Amino acid sequence: MPSLTTEAEQFEKIRTKVFVNSEAAVRELGSAIGAFIRQRQAENRRAVLGLATGSTPVRLYQELIRLHRDGLSFQNVITFNLDEYYGLPPDHPESYRHFMEVQLFRHIDLPPAQAHVPNGLIERNQVFEYCANYEAQIAEAGGIDIQIVGIGRTGHIGFNEPGSSLDSRTRLVALDRLTRRDAARDFRGEANVPAYALTMGIGTILEARQIRLLAWGESKALVLRSAIEGPETTAVPASFLQRHSDCRCYLDHAAGSELTRFRTPWKVGPVKWDPGLTRKAVTWLAETREKPVLRLRDEDYTENALASLLVETGSAYSLNIRIFNELQHTITGWPGGKPNADDTNRPVPAEPPFKRVIILSPEPLDAEIGMAGTIHRLVNQQHEVTLAYLTSGNLSVPDSEARMAFSLLNELGVSKPDSLAHLDQLAAETNRKAPFDEDSRELRQFKGLIRRAEARASCQILGLALDRVRFLDLPFYQRGRYRQFRWGSEDVKSVVNLMCSLEPHQVYVTGVGADPSSVPGIAYQLVSAALENCGKEPWFPNCQFWVYASNERPWPPHEIDMAIPLSPAELAIKLDCLYHHRSQRSQTPFTETQAGEGWQQAEQINRATARQYDLLGLAEYEAVESFRAQKGGRNR
Ligand code: GLP
Repeated sequence: MPSLTTEAEQFEKIRTKVFVNSEAAVRELGSAIGAFIRQRQAENRRAVLGLATGSTPVRLYQELIRLHRDGLSFQNVITFNLDEYYGLPPDHPESYRHFMEVQLFRHIDLPPAQAHVPNGLIERNQVFEYCANYEAQIAEAGGIDIQIVGIGRTGHIGFNEPGSSLDSRTRLVALDRLTRRDAARDFRGEANVPAYALTMGIGTILEARQIRLLAWGESKALVLRSAIEGPETTAVPASFLQRHSDCRCYLDHAAGSELTRFRTPWKVGPVKWDPGLTRKAVTWLAETREKPVLRLRDEDYTENALASLLVETGSAYSLNIRIFNELQHTITGWPGGKPNADDTNRPVPAEPPFKRVIILSPEPLDAEIGMAGTIHRLVNQQHEVTLAYLTSGNLSVPDSEARMAFSLLNELGVSKPDSLAHLDQLAAETNRKAPFDEDSRELRQFKGLIRRAEARASCQILGLALDRVRFLDLPFYQRGRYRQFRWGSEDVKSVVNLMCSLEPHQVYVTGVGADPSSVPGIAYQLVSAALENCGKEPWFPNCQFWVYASNERPWPPHEIDMAIPLSPAELAIKLDCLYHHRSQRSQTPFTETQAGEGWQQAEQINRATARQYDLLGLAEYEAVESFRAQKGGRNR
């Protein structure tokens, strides 16, 4: 157990620091690594770093590159990467060797011979010897000083999937289904994800003198709780890090949100009760006691570490009623406000009765998953709704879908649509390419058109006129690939222009707790930047900003500021709309709580939210879509 643990951290078996955001975390870790390298330089010694891949360390590498530009040399550094996909050549765009070259190596002065990444092309019959040799090289370098690790949603570190033993060494492993599904987008389909990988073992990783685990985004929150607070178990390989004497976790808020000190802070010490925390505690208590809010008794509070709440509010009776009413007031069938109604206790003002609404969807399907039922209502209630897709989503269209479209166009005798190369050539490209190869610019463009067609069809089901559907095709996406996007001022400008041309009364966004390098995560950052630029616009103070949920997990009721119930018929319309994104079959990542196709996940989530409200003693609905008020504009 680490020393210096505060009372709040008493459940944590790995020293963990939770930062406001990933930027702050990598700044601190980057500067510690920089200081270590410099110290070794002063001693004329080498510094041995263990490196990881995936989206998570990208920001750390950007920070190291920044330090290098400010004068930090890597001449005395030796690196060993954790893992590599088996079967991928080093120059393959998805190989970890290629990833490291692009993300770090080519930007610093690390001598190439000092950078080690397992070779994914090693012959099967030489794997054992090769892996033993990889370990020997680590030992020869003096062992790893600082090992960076990320965490997969199965709880893996490196590619040590559940079942990996504590003393496992560098070896060839088969990848877990969830891991392959997570990588499906990188490889345009789960079927193309390599089935095997070479990875350092848990035993190898634990030999590093320091281990630094990084994780961002809510999708990692549950597995981190198991790894940090749960028992050591092969079911969650990262839990073995608990036995290391110098392991630290660097998390952002979303990734740390399931730790006891944030989830149920009243269990770990005195808390300052504010309205948000009070609502959280009462709904938690109702769920824990399996009782509707209005039936909670004083002893339910006192027996569950919530006596201090009663001291502040007097009795369970008045507190229960207050929270019940608060929850009740989140529910509305009028997402654009109810005209001519008293809006004192409604989430949306009645005026103006007909609003201009902008819905921003990172890729086609995100907005539909989060709020198709609400869009349908907004349109039916006569608001002027614009649905803007920030990116085309063309990276997640499998070749087979493109082939189907080519076949249709061929039948029609269409051979040269404007601005596209000859269709036959594109069709030939899909036949020629190896499954993991990158698409040409034209093929990406064509796949983008497929997603547009799907998006239009799905919008029409919701009643949206086609001239209200915008495709912004933001440049960051067009230039990039998954996990490696970089956004800039052009992207922000495009969103600002949209806002300023429409002067909305409501804007809907998503991606708040998402991995910051994912498309929803980036979309959220750049929309936030755009809104900052709009702060002085006359429409801004009267605009409400709402965040809609993703498929990640059902939001607990205390996080919901507006709940839009869906009738069985509306849920059916929503599902019909979602089915029209047919190219996305098997492309949606599984989440911690939801497997299956995107539309199945959405249905389960919306039904689960309805069930939560029901169990708290509110009305019983078929399904519910959830929204959070975002500060700014009209929401203070
Ligand atoms: C892969 C890598 C791991 C990494 C994990 C999480 O499985 N082998 O080392 O930690 O992905 O990836 P990400 O950081 O993209 O969430």
